[in-house]
Amino acid sequence: MNKEKTTIAILGGTGALGSALAKKWAQNGYTVIVGSRKKEKAETTAIELNKEIGSELIKGLDLIEASKNCNLAVMAVPYSSHQMTLDAVKNNLIGKIIIDTTVPLQGNVTKVSLPEKGSAALEAQIFLGDKVKVVSALQNIGSHLIGSDKNIDAEVLVTGNDREAVQLVRELINDLGLTSWDAGCIENSAAAEALTSILIFINKRHKLKSSGIKITSH
Ligand SMILES: NC(=O)c1ccc[n+]([C@@H]2O[C@H](COP(=O)([O-])OP(=O)(O)OC[C@H]3O[C@@H](n4cnc5c(N)ncnc54)[C@H](OP(=O)(O)O)[C@@H]3O)[C@@H](O)[C@H]2O)c1
Repeated sequence: MNKEKTTIAILGGTGALGSALAKKWAQNGYTVIVGSRKKEKAETTAIELNKEIGSELIKGLDLIEASKNCNLAVMAVPYSSHQMTLDAVKNNLIGKIIIDTTVPLQGNVTKVSLPEKGSAALEAQIFLGDKVKVVSALQNIGSHLIGSDKNIDAEVLVTGNDREAVQLVRELINDLGLTSWDAGCIENSAAAEALTSILIFINKRHKLKSSGIKITSH
């Protein structure tokens, strides 16, 4: 991935996961746009993040301008705003990749609950159409781990219908210091999205701070 030529828009970049991603990718040389429903909030977050890491690579824009001015977007908003955010940016994403990190948590967060169409990422792919490449990733790892400088002993499942897009997203995830796996078609995102509720349950039941997953081979 050409870092100098890649501008990543993080829709919901003012939030926990979005700011952690913005910081890490900017530290790796990518230009990052924090996208917010409110431009001023995005600008404030961008100033704070740049200050924290000593960079000038992060800027803040509203969701529409962020999606217009990027080559690749990331969905990092709560599931309750998933559809509204997709609606706002749909026309600006044609020909681009969007990484969907959404976990469709509703009600009891320790109980798997998936949308009628199967998963949040599949909903996004159906809504955005074939001209937008939806790649699903990062559902099973906490924002505090992504934002930290520690070695992270956990792995990431990446799904999507375009293998080249999945590979490209895996390179971006590699720049976060994480190992990832191509886990197949976008329908398979249901497994990663569902796993989050299981990990939350395990954290509570076994008193762990942040359980995660790893693929093993024997
Ligand atoms: N946090 C994690 O550790 C983690 C890990 C894996 C996956 N995820 C997924 O990443 C997404 C974002 O999670 P998060 O924890 O970063 O969320 P968050 O901090 O609560 O919210 C992220 C941003 O979403 C925007 N937003 C839009 N509609 C909203 C609404 N109705 N209520 C609150 N905020 C709204 C806000 O930005 P503006 O106000 O600036 O528009 C907010 O800063 C979720 O889908 C989650 O499942 C999170």
